[in-house]
Amino acid sequence: MTQPPTSSVATLSQDDLKTLVGQAALRYVVPGDIVGVGTGSTVNKFIDALAGMKDQIKGAVSSSLASTERLQALGIQVFDSNDVAELSVYIDGADEIDHQGYMVKGGGAALTREKIVAAQSRQFVCIADESKLVQTLGRFPLPVEVIPMAAQRIMRQFEAMGAQARLRLKDGAPLVTDNGQHIVDVTGLQITDPLAFETQVSQWPGVVTVGVFAHQKAQVCLLGTATGVKTLTF
Ligand code: 5RP
Repeated sequence: MTQPPTSSVATLSQDDLKTLVGQAALRYVVPGDIVGVGTGSTVNKFIDALAGMKDQIKGAVSSSLASTERLQALGIQVFDSNDVAELSVYIDGADEIDHQGYMVKGGGAALTREKIVAAQSRQFVCIADESKLVQTLGRFPLPVEVIPMAAQRIMRQFEAMGAQARLRLKDGAPLVTDNGQHIVDVTGLQITDPLAFETQVSQWPGVVTVGVFAHQKAQVCLLGTATGVKTLTF
């Protein structure tokens, strides 16, 4: 006997939720504009969906070499951020987002370019599955992009705050970002004042970018949940 189609979203996987929010983000894309595009597995779903309306947009500004490759493979033109004064919207994922729209980002090591594109965008729309929503930032290891010669000193500064810091490795060697720098991942933090924390750590010599996005927070979060996509506004 043929089974009736199931309509319950409760059975959706995390991957399905990422697809849903990636598709839902299309309604924030302004026809005729250049769209800011983030990095990561959730954004990959958005890029795939964006390909369906590529003839309605001018193109994209991308936050990583990986996203650039994916956009170009789908026939979407990628512009240099220097050639675009302002973007109407930036769509990106997050490793954590709190109830004020403050985020931790950089799990994919693209935080510096993500912050640059976010800063040139009028609106940041975060797309995430519900596992990313937290009360207080800090559970996910905080990525910090650093100039390699400053890495040990920066790790000691975090340890003096009571945290633990490690250099991110890839294939046994320090991971090298798109910008030729290294990543330090910091655990044991409770970031209760994201704005002050971002301001403070950004001033340490050798820090390129701290993965707290408070000054460039989200205005909207499309959250994939067991009951569908919820829209949070901040
Ligand atoms: C990359 C990022 C990503 O937005 C973040 O890591 C979330 O990725 P995913 O959608 O794969 O969970 O900041 O640097």
